[in-house]
Amino acid sequence: MDLKLKDKTAFISGSTSGIGYAVAKILLREGMSVYINGRSQNSVDTAISQLKNEVTDASVSGIVADFNQPRQISKIFKTLSEVNVLINNVGIYSSSSFFATSVETWQEQFQVNVMSGVSLSKYYMEKMLHQNWGRILFISSECAYLVPTDMISYSATKAALHATSRGLAQLAKGTGVTSNVVFPGSTLSAGAKFFLQEKAAAEKKSVQTVEENFFRNERSNSLLQRFATTDEVATTIAYLCSPLSSATNGTIVKVDGGSSGGI
Ligand SMILES: NC(=O)c1ccc[n+]([C@@H]2O[C@H](COP(=O)([O-])OP(=O)(O)OC[C@H]3O[C@@H](n4cnc5c(N)ncnc54)[C@H](OP(=O)(O)O)[C@@H]3O)[C@@H](O)[C@H]2O)c1
Repeated sequence: MDLKLKDKTAFISGSTSGIGYAVAKILLREGMSVYINGRSQNSVDTAISQLKNEVTDASVSGIVADFNQPRQISKIFKTLSEVNVLINNVGIYSSSSFFATSVETWQEQFQVNVMSGVSLSKYYMEKMLHQNWGRILFISSECAYLVPTDMISYSATKAALHATSRGLAQLAKGTGVTSNVVFPGSTLSAGAKFFLQEKAAAEKKSVQTVEENFFRNERSNSLLQRFATTDEVATTIAYLCSPLSSATNGTIVKVDGGSSGGI
């Protein structure tokens, strides 16, 4: 399917690997100019060369910025004054009990997961409104609904994105700009692999056992009963970037393998 994105520009936060990287690959194949992002020059350069190997004539650039360092965000605006598609993908997560989670961890997760999207949207959305076209996406998580007790802070950051996205969609009422939330379930990215390894070490079990127990006990509602691949999630995100998705606005699109339930 032609997503009609040729010659448009996208910025994807936190995209040197995982879901963001998989989205970058699809958008580049659609002929977009894509700016990826990570915290180090090395990771950004490596991802750019991988993308150039995977996609012929990829128009890909990178911007190094750590969203936990708010001052670094201005580097993005200096390099890239306008985008047609903004994908607020960066998100950090870890497993720890509510009582063991420090206030600093809460602040860091809000800074990276929520304030990154707030700052980027404040800057780029006005220009989208001026052009009367744009796509803003917030990558949430099944945790916003499930609220696992070992991930309360992370779940709270994701729930905050839902209100933010809905508010932006309302601001864009009657225009060609949309703002939506994508709601992935457990997805086998590098971050998720690390998460499984951490859990395996903490529980003194193999990663395979932890993964099996995870779907048996913690995600028993998952109809997929396995981790989604990053490509499976990225295809939905890419569709929502497209002009073809123009009637989808101010809403949440689930790619959660059925884990959050509901009809
Ligand atoms: N994987 C899942 O199971 C899952 C499920 C539901 C929702 N999600 C959400 O989907 C999104 C992507 O998740 P993922 O699992 O694909 O990601 P991931 O593998 O954990 O993320 C890695 C990417 O995030 C970048 N990153 C991390 N911290 C950053 C920071 N402070 N500033 C800038 N970049 C940063 C990394 O860049 P460098 O290493 O190059 O710095 C890398 O590109 C997140 O919002 C996550 O919450 C994931």
